Amino acid sequence: MVKYNIALEGKTVLVTGAAGFIGSNLVMRLLKDYNDIKVVGIDSMTDYYDVNLKKERLEKIEALGRNWTFIEESIANKACIDQLFADHKPTIVVNLAAQAGVRYSITNPDAYIESNLIGFYNILEACRHHTVEHLVYASSSSVYGSNKKVPYSTDDKVDNPVSLYAATKKSNELMAHAYSKLYNIPSTGLRFFTVYGPAGRPDMAYFGFTNKLREGKTIQIFNYGNCKRDFTYIDDIVEGIVRVMQHAPEASPKSSPKGKDLGIHTADPMMYEVLKERAEKMRKNPTEAESALWNALKANGLGVKFRQQHIIEDFIVDFYCNEYKVTIEVDGKYHGTFTQTKSDDERTARLIELGYTELRFTNEEVLGDLDNVLKKIKTFCSGTPFPSGEGREEAVPYKVYNIGNNSPENLLDFVTILQEELVAAGVLPADYDFESHKELVPMQPGDVPVTYADTTPLEQDFGFRPSTPLRQGLQAFAKWYAGYYKEV
Ligand SMILES: NC(=O)c1ccc[n+]([C@@H]2O[C@H](COP(=O)([O-])OP(=O)(O)OC[C@H]3O[C@@H](n4cnc5c(N)ncnc54)[C@H](O)[C@@H]3O)[C@@H](O)[C@H]2O)c1
Repeated sequence: MVKYNIALEGKTVLVTGAAGFIGSNLVMRLLKDYNDIKVVGIDSMTDYYDVNLKKERLEKIEALGRNWTFIEESIANKACIDQLFADHKPTIVVNLAAQAGVRYSITNPDAYIESNLIGFYNILEACRHHTVEHLVYASSSSVYGSNKKVPYSTDDKVDNPVSLYAATKKSNELMAHAYSKLYNIPSTGLRFFTVYGPAGRPDMAYFGFTNKLREGKTIQIFNYGNCKRDFTYIDDIVEGIVRVMQHAPEASPKSSPKGKDLGIHTADPMMYEVLKERAEKMRKNPTEAESALWNALKANGLGVKFRQQHIIEDFIVDFYCNEYKVTIEVDGKYHGTFTQTKSDDERTARLIELGYTELRFTNEEVLGDLDNVLKKIKTFCSGTPFPSGEGREEAVPYKVYNIGNNSPENLLDFVTILQEELVAAGVLPADYDFESHKELVPMQPGDVPVTYADTTPLEQDFGFRPSTPLRQGLQAFAKWYAGYYKEV
């Protein structure tokens, strides 16, 4: 059951990037669904893609005749943002204004620094100096870079962006964290996964492909079609934003008694499956010393913090406690058939690099003097301050969620469905020769082969996850496209 702590009725909501694809759909939804709501939109109407599309989105909003104010300005203009906050006093801010797109950041880096960093900084400063109940802002699946572990979880490390765009989005999350911590501004970052739908962004593949096919040009399918994308329909994104807007994170530590489980890091999902199976076997069949230690940990109340046979990167450790960033190794010998590919020393060195302390005991110590072993563990834990950063949620009103379809589609399947829907909507003739208009090409710089969202936290906290089937979404796009371009 979702507990909301913000009512939207009677509120002034600021939406930046309001003429954009997601922004305009959000504004429409807010104005249609909520009584007594005032929405202020700001957009600098950049010409990154056809400005007419943005104007038409604004006309549709205007036509609703609701309490709506639009300001054509850049969020990088600090004086203007200050004035806007002073005049309209928004209490909920949704920052969607940004220079989007991965490839454009290679040729036009300035636009990203201006809108995504300076602009976002101005929004944070304004939130700091005015009372804001909740700042929601757009991040992106691109922060996952070329991470190999899928699905992408908000607990994964995202320190290796592969485009400037991704670097600015990750920076937004860091900046928001600092402001949430320093000035107690509740903030929620949303990592959107490839959003599509009617009146969407012409720079995105589904729209670009459609334009090209209609013009009889050839479409380029990157990475020879070996790409998977978690395509997310616009209505699902808007639903997610509206739900999230109504629940500001609170500044209470939420670590479960077990501590937050961030210990599983492995470079390769296949490897993880193998290790998991082995760890489970080892847990069910512990050595005498492991079993004695585990029972003692439990009897001393440490069993809720420690876990048995845990996987850290390519290693299985005997006991693990994320809260204190410690692992315990008994004897350093492995069970029967399982041979570890790396030496004990390599494992210890890697654990140190990851910020873990490794406590090591021999079988004889554990079986001969369990009290002393336990004393050493307890001393370590009581003398160790809670580590900050990874593995420990601090008392900061700050959250980040993925919003994606949780079901990646192969690019070639996606193109097939798009073709079928374009024919059905009358955009292309039934006898269109698709095969001669397709070219399989290598990966583009800054692009990633797969995006796949783990949406478990979104489901847990908001009882929702995107679920519009790709065909249904592309059908809506194709119908809109047929109407929009019928004159051309
Ligand atoms: N569409 C997606 O697939 C997707 C995926 C991940 C993240 N996002 C993020 O979601 C947000 C919205 O994306 P969108 O798809 O609606 O893009 P969009 O380009 O349609 O909308 C962004 C809007 O922001 C405006 N803008 C840019 N710089 C500005 C500035 N300095 N001041 C004021 N307005 C400015 C643009 O004119 C545009 O109308 C962006 O932050 C984007 O990075 C989108």
